[in-house]
Amino acid sequence: MTNRVYNFGAGPAMLPETVMRRAQEEFLDYRGLGASVIEISHRSRDFMEIVEASNALLRELAEIPENYRILYMHGGAQMQFSAIPMNLIARRPQRKAAYVVSGNFADLAAKEAARYGEIDTSRNSAESNFDRIPEFDAHALDVESSYTHITSNNTIYGTRWNAFPDTGEIPLVADMTSEFLSRELDINRFGVIFASLQKNLGPSGLALVIVRQDLLDHAIPETPGLLNYRICAEKHSLANTINTFAVYLMKLVLEWLRDEGGVQAIEQRNADKAAILYEAVDGSDFYLGTAHAAHRSHMNVTFNLAESGLLETFLREAESSGFYALKGHRKVGGARASIYNAMPAEGCRALADFMRHFERRRG
Ligand SMILES: Cc1ncc(COP(=O)(O)O)c(C=O)c1O
Repeated sequence: MTNRVYNFGAGPAMLPETVMRRAQEEFLDYRGLGASVIEISHRSRDFMEIVEASNALLRELAEIPENYRILYMHGGAQMQFSAIPMNLIARRPQRKAAYVVSGNFADLAAKEAARYGEIDTSRNSAESNFDRIPEFDAHALDVESSYTHITSNNTIYGTRWNAFPDTGEIPLVADMTSEFLSRELDINRFGVIFASLQKNLGPSGLALVIVRQDLLDHAIPETPGLLNYRICAEKHSLANTINTFAVYLMKLVLEWLRDEGGVQAIEQRNADKAAILYEAVDGSDFYLGTAHAAHRSHMNVTFNLAESGLLETFLREAESSGFYALKGHRKVGGARASIYNAMPAEGCRALADFMRHFERRRG
């Protein structure tokens, strides 16, 4: 029936098989329309129903309060690296912001923001190749800051914030691209949360943005209309032709997550999945975890082989055994198993067995 592999790619990543099948089944004829969902107007009643259902599911699953708006914006998470400063840096006249540099994407976000204001990047773990989340004391933040930016899960390095800081009056902005809807959150802690879809939510190209209502009105005049949060909110993300297929697929993923028991259930499952792999890594000297144990991600498990010369063989044999895309990012090397919501626990168990077997043969 299927030759699908266990796909450990960091993103675009595997999606639930039931979602893919459903999309396939209704691709040519969406609900008896005689047309595909990608062939109907983004302003049609059928598509508007998809947007509304997706909004309702997001509110329910992530417990998004009424005073937050849900936006779908083009350009993935990196476009938000520009949108965030354009919309928020002028919240205070000094045009300052603090960026916690916990990895490559945080660094890119800070560099982009530096075009628009004075960016404090002193909280930075580059020195230890981002193997941990930098020390962070919210009380030490500059009170003139327009906002503080964090990356909640660092996809490349396999680290995450275990708990989120309380930044008080200074809005906390979080790039949650590689973990949104994988763990429970108190949305009230955040001013803005954004995530591109291609890990836990759907296909690439779009970003989901959840923005507190009082932060809609600070855009600098140069902000393009399509990046302006107020305009996007007022036009219900339909200022121009949205990526209709991505929204449709996200809605199917959200329905799947609801049917799986929601975020609380998936968070437990994700913790169990991660534990299976970290046990395999920690169970011998053959494998070495690359992230500091206290900051380990539940979405991206990064490790190396103590004998680095064996890495190529490990990756090749893994791939021929049905474990796809395990190669680590070049900035870390080694291997990385990305185990987003759609990865079943059997995939992690099978990979852990393969790791032990490989060690017995080669160790
Ligand atoms: C944490 C994080 N932020 C931002 C991005 C960039 O996302 P995009 O390629 O959709 O712009 C990624 C991509 O992997 C990511 O993992």
